[in-house]
Amino acid sequence: MPDTNAQNCTITLEGKNYEFPVITGTEGEKAIDISKLRDTTGYVTLDIGYKNTGATKSAITFLDGEEGILRHRGYSIEDLAEKANFLEVSYLLLKGELPNKEQFEDFDNSVRHHTLVNEDLQNIFRTFPTGSHPMGQLIAMISSLSAYYPKALDPHRSPEAKNRTTLRLMAKMPTICAMIYKKRLGHPVVYPNNNLDYVSNFLSMTFKHVSDADYQPDPVIVDAMNKLLILHADHEQNCSASTVRLVGSSQSNLYATTAAGIAALWGPLHGGANQEVLEMLEQIKGDGGNVQKWVDKAKDKNDPFRLMGFGHRVYKNFDPRAKIIKKTCDDVLNKLGINDPVLEIAKKLEEAALTDPYFAERKLYPNVDFYSGIIYRAMGFPTEMFTALFAVGRLPGWIAQWQEMVQENQPIGRPRQIYTGHMPRTFIPRGERQ
Ligand code: CMC
Repeated sequence: MPDTNAQNCTITLEGKNYEFPVITGTEGEKAIDISKLRDTTGYVTLDIGYKNTGATKSAITFLDGEEGILRHRGYSIEDLAEKANFLEVSYLLLKGELPNKEQFEDFDNSVRHHTLVNEDLQNIFRTFPTGSHPMGQLIAMISSLSAYYPKALDPHRSPEAKNRTTLRLMAKMPTICAMIYKKRLGHPVVYPNNNLDYVSNFLSMTFKHVSDADYQPDPVIVDAMNKLLILHADHEQNCSASTVRLVGSSQSNLYATTAAGIAALWGPLHGGANQEVLEMLEQIKGDGGNVQKWVDKAKDKNDPFRLMGFGHRVYKNFDPRAKIIKKTCDDVLNKLGINDPVLEIAKKLEEAALTDPYFAERKLYPNVDFYSGIIYRAMGFPTEMFTALFAVGRLPGWIAQWQEMVQENQPIGRPRQIYTGHMPRTFIPRGERQ
């Protein structure tokens, strides 16, 4: 447990000293607890973009950006990606421990029990214009689940109700994603086959044709998809997890809260980067494959172009997830016998950027989104679905972050500001204004 009374920190303001506790986490990271700063000094802290703000204590995920370390509940991401399946990792995030055989079977069966979605949801799909972005549809669909489960609207109702909502979300997210894919193609929806495991079921709902009774997902793809979902499962207080905590802190229901997390994920600086990476690589390929030209563009401060899939707020070293994904990418393409020229461009781009002082000085390395799109594409997913796949993976992380916040009865999130607008002014009626 963190040692909360190890030392104090003295802050001097206007010649007066104030003492604040220093909090030390289990991995030795330190924070100054300034929750009483305003009450005692009248000052607030200003940290635009929360670059240096610990918004919560959390026992879910440990991340050391300088060393490139990521652990969930103490287990390394390398071990989890290599040795566990996605549902096991979801259980670990949600319940705090890896499941034993019975616990896993119980969780797995409970999720299987909830995979169908209400048929009326199909009516909502019909109202979306053809070709609308999967993430916009996903937000609407997940949010609209709250209409079908009104008892879930009170997030504090009971542990059983919370557990049921968690199971429903875990079970229905892949079904809804697969429906989005099928609707985009104009193909009939494929219903869940609850004899299949979580990932195989998702792949079957996505890629099976209704008339194809013999469809079996390729084990290479099942394995890669498990890995990819695990690598996206949680990432401590990132933009979407913080959104989930903030929205959930007003006691909004978990469906609406999750929809808000999906909305945050959609942005190209967060999960939307995976789509952008592939579009960028295609653009470079179409432009003749001159990677140096694009590296130079990314360095040019007058050019808005950024190397998508590069850089991270927290990692100032290799993103450990990117290392695993790069290897998985090679393995999957080899096993599937796919020769994607875009992979060669990605490798050249990575090499050019890593040897460039601009990227070295700023500690910009490939992140999780750099190679993932190439694998998704090899699996058969269209580019626009990539961020929705990130959302399927991130779901247990969002729920675990939300659960922790609710369990600890954390107060509503409500930051302060430093006002920089006008001083009081006299109101002039409309007809008299200049
Ligand atoms: N290409 C070129 N320059 C970059 C890049 C990039 N991808 N990323 C950062 N920089 C530069 C930036 O211009 C700045 O330079 P200077 O100090 O000269 O002004 C410096 O590096 C620091 O960047 P920042 O924008 O202040 O850093 P941040 O922590 O606010 O942003 C980031 C982090 C991930 C938003 C940013 O690196 C970025 O835009 N990357 C591309 C988008 C991307 O791949 N996002 C996925 C993130 S990982 C998946 C996830 O968990 O969401």
